[in-house]
Amino acid sequence: MASAMHDQAVPAQREKELLRFITCGSVDDGKSTLLGRLLYDAGLVPDDQLAALARDSRKIHADSPGKLDFSLLTDGLDAERQQGITIDVAYRYFSTARRSFIVADCPGHEQYTRNMATGASTAGLAVMLVDARKGLLAQTRRHTYICALLGVRRVILAVNKMDLVDYRQDIFDAISTEYGELARNLGIATVHSLPVVAPDGDNVGTRSSHMAWYQGACLLEMLDSVDVPSETSTDFRMPVQWVNRPDHSFRGYAGTIRGGTIAVGGEIVAQPGMQRARVERIVTADGDLPEASEGQAVTFTFDREIDVSRGDVIADAMRPAPMSDQFAVHLLWMGDAALLPNRTYWLKIGARTVNARVTAIKHKVDVNTQAELAARRLELNEVGYCNIDLDHAIAFEAYATNRTLGGFILIDRQTHATVACGMLDFALRRATNVHWQHLDLDKRTRGLSKGQMPRCLWFTGLSGAGKSTIANLVERRLHALGRHTYLLDGDNLRHGLNKDLGFTAEARVENVRRVAEVAHLLVDAGLIVLVCVISPFCSEREFARDLFTPGEFVEVFVDTPLVECERRDPKGLYQKARAGLIRNFTGIDSPYERPDSPELHLLSGDAQAEQLAEQVVSYLLVSEAAAPG
Ligand code: ADX
Repeated sequence: MASAMHDQAVPAQREKELLRFITCGSVDDGKSTLLGRLLYDAGLVPDDQLAALARDSRKIHADSPGKLDFSLLTDGLDAERQQGITIDVAYRYFSTARRSFIVADCPGHEQYTRNMATGASTAGLAVMLVDARKGLLAQTRRHTYICALLGVRRVILAVNKMDLVDYRQDIFDAISTEYGELARNLGIATVHSLPVVAPDGDNVGTRSSHMAWYQGACLLEMLDSVDVPSETSTDFRMPVQWVNRPDHSFRGYAGTIRGGTIAVGGEIVAQPGMQRARVERIVTADGDLPEASEGQAVTFTFDREIDVSRGDVIADAMRPAPMSDQFAVHLLWMGDAALLPNRTYWLKIGARTVNARVTAIKHKVDVNTQAELAARRLELNEVGYCNIDLDHAIAFEAYATNRTLGGFILIDRQTHATVACGMLDFALRRATNVHWQHLDLDKRTRGLSKGQMPRCLWFTGLSGAGKSTIANLVERRLHALGRHTYLLDGDNLRHGLNKDLGFTAEARVENVRRVAEVAHLLVDAGLIVLVCVISPFCSEREFARDLFTPGEFVEVFVDTPLVECERRDPKGLYQKARAGLIRNFTGIDSPYERPDSPELHLLSGDAQAEQLAEQVVSYLLVSEAAAPG
């Protein structure tokens, strides 16, 4: 996700060390005040803004004149929230003499978990705020878990409101110890704790005189000095963002280095093609470099022509990245509609996009308690541990060792919305142990021996729309014409192959996927296959279409209005559904997504089934005659 969501490269020549951090804690904990006070103490609030701050503070806190309300400097998120504006993440930028900082400020409530994950995905450090009076809350656990999940391995724990507990060391110590344990359990390597009073600035920009027992650094000093080593593996890796070919004489491969170092003359391999070459030049906006390392945006040229496209990974030839197409992953679901196992989504990793489907949700995780729970689907802001299956092998690293090569997002193919961020854990063994068996006879040969062009006629529409009736007539006509056919009927398949599936959204996704795969096999056998399933979702019909070559898949929308289907009610099911005896009935309490552009749109209002069947047959014959070869 780190790379997919934020492709901002760090300039090739860095002047100051850059530290990205995330602030966690709710408004009540004093997060905005702490951040505001930090900017103030670092001398980063311009005079005009200070004057405005003093004016606004007087207005709001008439009872305490002269007191500055630092939360007003940073409360942008809150204002947005009140206006109902969609909140993403507010990024703030500031710098000290030593470092420059990018702070991700995210809302803290559970419904904003996805926003927090976005902020955490690029952070090297988290500043976790707790209220000294309340200690660790469910929210603290959630924020720490999300940070750990997204690869944040360092935390500064700021125990705030120490003035309200009489600056007591024992309270601070108890909270620090408890938090240290929590963080350790979640795999966070380092925790620095400090006691603060955000509004008064105790231990924010300067040491506090109220807590002599605390000998450590103040927050600003900590941010300036805390050691945040690169978490990525040291092997050289660069996902190719684009291939730069201004003319015939130059062919460069541009991207940001996401691990290790490479020098001119170094040998690389382009994955997945596995062709090797040596680095000829390392070009940047500021001239050529002799070598380049992680974080730098560069363009490589090689000593020979090799096949490299956008999305490939250029790696150290001696230590290429592992490749696989099946993984165990953590997923944080960000979509408004639930994750449905077996639905196909786009998976974007680095600059590469492939098709992916979750084949199993092993468990979901309660983000507040980290308990593992059974789950059939993942809802908004839920985290799950899943198996995922891609249609192409990718070069990857575990997220724990390389956030860019192990982090990905899932995108809904219909809406193009980002619906999940994911972290690759490990490749599943079976991915490397199952191979595709080559067969000498192919679909074309099998079709030719039957004297026909193999096809899939996919009838979709409501229950009772007439799909099976029309398909049955079409099959009889084709049979009479000497064609070799087979009819896959949803109801019939549900007596055998799909006997284990009901009618929830996730069961239908799997039902349609299986039918599509079987149809695909039968088309490969050279047959003209007629499929009759409601197939209510665009996404699964598109999955089916994608299995076939262009022209092979014919979507036939049997468009009978719901009232008409209900009037016919051949199986008495609508009546039962209306009476509440059947749940999730398509058209009643379960949706039917109409096809956008089917090859055939049958308006079945007045027409007889025979006429509609004739339309299908003539479409087939005409398109067959027009087909090449
Ligand atoms: S699909 O939605 O998964 O594509 P499929 O075509 O296999 O459905 O099966 C639909 C048939 O199952 C209907 O024609 C109807 O006879 C029967 N059925 C039973 N319950 C339902 C339901 N809740 N919704 C739709 N069809 C149902």
